[in-house]
Amino acid sequence: MDLLKKIKENARRYNKRIVLPEGTEERTLKAANEIIAENIAQIILIGNPDEIRNKSTEFSLNNIENAKIIDPVNHEKKDAYADLMVELRKHKGMTKEMALKQIEDPLYLATVMIKAGDADGEVAGAMNATGDVLRPAFQYVKTLPGISVVSGAFIMILKDKQYGDDGMMVFADCAVHPDPTAKELAEIAVATAKTTKAIAKMEPRVAMLSFSTKGSAKHEMVDKVVEATNIAKEIDPSLKIDGELQADAAIIEAIGQKKAPGSKIAGKANVLVFPNLESGNIAYKLVQRMAGAEAIGPILQGMAAPINDLSRGCSVSDIVNLVAITANQATGN
Ligand code: ACO
Repeated sequence: MDLLKKIKENARRYNKRIVLPEGTEERTLKAANEIIAENIAQIILIGNPDEIRNKSTEFSLNNIENAKIIDPVNHEKKDAYADLMVELRKHKGMTKEMALKQIEDPLYLATVMIKAGDADGEVAGAMNATGDVLRPAFQYVKTLPGISVVSGAFIMILKDKQYGDDGMMVFADCAVHPDPTAKELAEIAVATAKTTKAIAKMEPRVAMLSFSTKGSAKHEMVDKVVEATNIAKEIDPSLKIDGELQADAAIIEAIGQKKAPGSKIAGKANVLVFPNLESGNIAYKLVQRMAGAEAIGPILQGMAAPINDLSRGCSVSDIVNLVAITANQATGN
């Protein structure tokens, strides 16, 4: 069975509540209709109820009547959510008046619903830029205990089956944190290993990538990767990780043996952790386009509850798939 089928099947077993703050958007509505039909998750749509119902009728989306619809401007919990926002952000100067205005923004409402325990996860980004989806999540849902930074992983399904586990690899951070410190990079490695187990269903073998392999080059950027590797081992002593490694030494057995003899990871890595967002984002897009790989994600990791960001060019099936992934993350397994 392919990975997405497994992910959907698992989502069906748990039937989590996923909130879609772009509830009036056409692709989002079509995806919601499909998700409800396939019992992948319970759907909460945020948006003007009349607009949602009119569009559902226009596109014959009969299952939308089984979604919960929340009007961001007028709903019974508005005041209670505003109080919660003040409680969580009064140290940042949040007042009740400001909160009552901010809670009308569907992207804020969705994250506060999660914080209040009224939803298990969120998918957005079909109409909004990454930063606008992430900022409310960072402010209200925050990170998992022991993790200070959110990052984004991609499951890469390659045509060439010699890499990773039968052609499947996980890349991170390709989506969120521009310039991580050594400690943050270590946390990204630990979080990516968890995503690899939980979502890609593989035992992670993590390569910390650089332009140097085991001291072949000397530079402070190399030192950062070496330090991050050591910190990651301290955070999780059971983690199978090695660095610093060049990309070829990480994924090609013969080169790994030559450049990093004795390494248990070199040549066998199925997880690639990039030293910064520039290299991670460029790498995943090149592999996707030039090698024709399927790129599933970004799967955001390190957040206290699952919130995932779509590309604005996403298709209906991209939304369905990301909701299924988010529902899997919400199981906490
Ligand atoms: N993890 C956790 N919290 C974070 C992170 C992070 N990576 N980054 C910022 N925060 C928190 C801050 O601590 C702060 O919290 P506070 O208000 O409680 O103090 C809050 O978020 C806002 O912080 P700012 O520094 O003001 O962050 P800003 O909103 O300017 O930027 C953002 C955050 C938008 C995510 C920025 O890092 C960014 O633009 N990243 C790149 C995203 C992107 O464009 N990716 C490429 C496209 S995606 C793709 O191609 C798949």
